[in-house]
Amino acid sequence: MIKKVAILVNGGDCCGLNAVIRAITKTAESHNIECYGYIDGYKGLVENDYVRLDHSNIAAGILYKGGSIIGSSTNTIVFHYPFTNPDGSIDFVDMSDRCVENFKNNGFDCLFTLGGDSTQKSARDLFLKGINVIGVPKTIDNDVVGTELTFGYDTAVSVATDALDRLHSTGETHGRIMVLEVMGRFAGWIALGSGIAGGADVILIPEIPYDLNKAAEAILKRKSRGKKFSIVVVAEGALPKEKPAEEFAESTGQETGIKVKFSGAGERVAKELEKLTGITARNTTLGYLQRGGKPTSNDRLLSTKYGAKAMELALQEKFGVLTVLKNGKLDCISLEEVVGNNKDLGAVEGGTKDSNVKYVTMDDELVITARNIGICLGD
Ligand code: F6P
Repeated sequence: MIKKVAILVNGGDCCGLNAVIRAITKTAESHNIECYGYIDGYKGLVENDYVRLDHSNIAAGILYKGGSIIGSSTNTIVFHYPFTNPDGSIDFVDMSDRCVENFKNNGFDCLFTLGGDSTQKSARDLFLKGINVIGVPKTIDNDVVGTELTFGYDTAVSVATDALDRLHSTGETHGRIMVLEVMGRFAGWIALGSGIAGGADVILIPEIPYDLNKAAEAILKRKSRGKKFSIVVVAEGALPKEKPAEEFAESTGQETGIKVKFSGAGERVAKELEKLTGITARNTTLGYLQRGGKPTSNDRLLSTKYGAKAMELALQEKFGVLTVLKNGKLDCISLEEVVGNNKDLGAVEGGTKDSNVKYVTMDDELVITARNIGICLGD
C-alpha cells in the first residue's frame, strides 16, 4: 500500500513542470497519500532536503506557472556527485547509497522523476538500487525515447513560432535573411516544428549535416521569384557537412565535465549565407525564452495527464517505468528501454552524443511535410 510519495525535477526546466507536480499531488490527495517534493532535483535527494506538497501550501495555484516550485538541478549525478574540499578542489563521490538510505528512512514508497534522458538514466540506476521510481518525460527538446511527446515541447515550439512571425515582418520590410537559432543539441524537433508552423524557407537540424550552398540556392531562387527576404531556422546543434562536430562543441559541465553544448550556430549560418547570397542576414538566438513563462494549454493538458497517470501507476505498484504517449494514448514503458544501450550503473549520462536520444528520422511526417512544401533542409 502506497502512503507517502516524493517528486523531484531534474535537468533544464521547461513549461508544464508545475502542472505535473500539481496533477501528482492532486491524484495523491484523492487517495489519501502524502506527497512531498525534493528541493533542487537529485541534489535534494542527496542532501535529504524536501517539503510537503498539498493544496494548502506551495503546490496550490501553480497550473499556469512556468519553472518548478521545487527547483531543479542540472549536471547533478548522484553516482558522480561533486564535493568541494576545504582547499577548493572537487572530488566526485558515489552518493547513491546515501540516496537510497535517505529515501527509505523517510518512509517514501515511490519517487517520481521529472526529467529528460539523463534524469531517467539516473532514475533507472536508482531503481536497480532499490528505489521505486516512476519517470515522467520532460524536455523542450522532445527527444526522450519511447514517447511521442514530452511536456514542454509544445510551449517551446509555440514561443519559437511567435518569434518567427515577428521576424517575418521585419525581414520582409528590410529584404533580409532572418535566421532564428532555437534549442536542440542533438535533435531538431523544435526547429522542425516551429520552422513548419512559422513558415520557414530553410530549416537546419543536427540530424541532417548541412551544405549552405543548398540553402543559398533556395534563398536566391526565392529572390528570383520576387521574394526579397527569407526565414531560416537553425537548431543549436546543426552542423556543416564538411566539419567534425568536435570543432563546435564545448563542454559545459563544470562538475562532471561531460555535458556538451554547441554555440553560435545561428551566427555562423547568418554570416555564411550573407557571403554566399549577397543578401544582408541577421541572427536572433531565442535561448531560454523557449523554457520560461506560461505553458500552452496543450502542455498543461499533457502534463496533467502524465502526472495523473504517474500516480495511477504508483497505485498499481508498477515501478521502474516512464509514462509515455504511444499512438496518442497514455501508456508506460520500462526505464530499461529508455536507457537503451546505456546500461552500466552510474556510467554514461545524458546530454552527450552517447545518450539514448530520440532523433528526427528521415521518414518522420515533419521531414516529409517540410520537403513536400519545398522547405530546404540543407541537403
Ligand atoms: O535539454 C533542454 C535544453 O534547453 C537544451 O535544448 C539546451 O541545449 C540545454 O538544455 C541548455 O542547458 P543549460 O540549462 O545547462 O544551459
